Amino acid sequence: MTENTYLLAGHDSELARLQLQSRVWEPAGRRLLDRIGDGQGAQVVDVGCGSMGWLRLLSEWVGPDGEVVGTDVDESMLAAAKTFVDDEGLPNVTLVTDDVFASELEPSSFDLVHARFLIGPLGRGPEQMATHLRLLRPGGTLALEELDSRSWTFLPPAPALVSPLGHGDKVDGLIPLLSEAFRKAGGDPDCATTQLEVFRDAGIEPHARAEVQALPPGHPYLRLPLVFATALDGLLRSLVDGDDLDRTLAQAERELADPGRWGLTFTLVQTWGQRQA
Ligand SMILES: C[S@@+](CC[C@H](N)C(=O)[O-])C[C@H]1O[C@@H](n2cnc3c(N)ncnc32)[C@H](O)[C@@H]1O
Repeated sequence: MTENTYLLAGHDSELARLQLQSRVWEPAGRRLLDRIGDGQGAQVVDVGCGSMGWLRLLSEWVGPDGEVVGTDVDESMLAAAKTFVDDEGLPNVTLVTDDVFASELEPSSFDLVHARFLIGPLGRGPEQMATHLRLLRPGGTLALEELDSRSWTFLPPAPALVSPLGHGDKVDGLIPLLSEAFRKAGGDPDCATTQLEVFRDAGIEPHARAEVQALPPGHPYLRLPLVFATALDGLLRSLVDGDDLDRTLAQAERELADPGRWGLTFTLVQTWGQRQA
């Protein structure tokens, strides 16, 4: 039996959201792989790959002699990933149902283990890290990507989405409320802040880089907070008054409808390091 405690599981919008998100962050992933080095012929795994994840990137990186395994616990994610892999013609990618908390993948069998946005929503960092390390062969590289929401902002400011930086101590709006909802559901929305320590505790000397993207007016990824708010509606209503939430959501829609409003994403924090040989 696999376990699916992912708080966004079962929402139709989640498959499309993850594909959009994967496309938005592909260039950042490519830059990280360039830093890690030459992957030709490598055996790699994208843990919790969702409907696309790093599958296309890794397929390119390992080349025709390498092998990419994408895992997820959710069959609908894997079905969407399979369609993506078939449409793209990625013959070196295999998709496997596997639970990160009870992984049946061969220990010490991967040159690179990658997991993105997995500790944040699942919130069980030490157990997840233990699985990632077990899968790595000695000398292999672990690469994690998580988010830090503090750069997430809109220009001109959109106070219903997030209060402008520097205006008072309390940051409020929909985005901080979403972090609270993730926390309440057992996630760890601040996990990026401790990523370096997590690597050091595992005896791995970590490297780090970060990326923030500017999104032009009308970019669909600007709507991410509203997509999350729809998926987490019940949870949000357990945190705040329903009428207040409805007013905030309506104002956020008006803010995003402004044809001149652009935005900055959250910070994608990338950490990686090599397990000792
Ligand atoms: C936020 S999504 C990230 C997907 C992908 N890594 C990406 O960045 O696009 C989290 C993914 O973890 C998967 N997941 C949830 N629980 C899991 C588990 N126990 N083992 C493996 N994957 C899991 C979900 O189905 C979902 O696809």
